[in-house]
Amino acid sequence: MTTELKLSVVDAINERHSVRKYQKGVEIPKKDLEEILELAAKAPSSWNLQHWRYVVITSQEMKEKILPIAYNQEQVVDSSAVVVILGDLEADKNAEDVYKPALEAGQIPQQVYDILLGQIKGAYANNPQFARDEAILNASLSAMQLMLAAKAKGYDTCPMGGFDRQKLIQALNIPPRYIPVMLISIGKAAAPARPTSRFPLEKLVVWESF
Ligand SMILES: Cc1cc2nc3c(=O)[nH]c(=O)nc-3n(C[C@H](O)[C@H](O)[C@H](O)COP(=O)(O)O)c2cc1C
Repeated sequence: MTTELKLSVVDAINERHSVRKYQKGVEIPKKDLEEILELAAKAPSSWNLQHWRYVVITSQEMKEKILPIAYNQEQVVDSSAVVVILGDLEADKNAEDVYKPALEAGQIPQQVYDILLGQIKGAYANNPQFARDEAILNASLSAMQLMLAAKAKGYDTCPMGGFDRQKLIQALNIPPRYIPVMLISIGKAAAPARPTSRFPLEKLVVWESF
């Protein structure tokens, strides 16, 4: 493994902020982007179905096209790349690809393979709400991991939920199988993020039970 991360996970978490002002014209080497995406794709997922897909936008022309769809949020055009995080609404179709190799390598017996595939097909059958929840839930885990990986590699990010879903689907020809979950800008900060705070644990944590 050649990945050299610059920050520890704790540092990356503490130092990640939503950066909205970027140094314009900075190109992220493709190798860095791919490394960040590979790290993002190591996120956990239900049944390991890996519900995430990424549309990576680096050309200025495409970023300009997305700008009005993202309600003119400057980070879309000023950052080096915008990653559209998609969730797979038909992730059950990934089951064979995930489990066949394990079966063939003798890592799981046929019986376990049959049980897993049965569970997955059963859960997704006639249950679009479940499929949608799973797509968004699992893709969001990858999105978070992408932001931390980017930070660890020396880049800043901003997650964006503020965009017109239908217009984005049209602009990028996103097939109906995928749901846009969020956009993430990646680049080098030109100005620090707005300071934010977090609730104290007393407000957030319930020990054992409500
Ligand atoms: C799902 C989601 C959607 C968001 N949408 C936007 C957005 O459209 N535009 C924006 O500037 N920030 C957006 N943010 C960033 C939040 O405003 C930011 O995470 C929050 O204020 C905490 O700040 P921090 O990320 O710097 O810690 C979004 C964050 C999340 C998680």
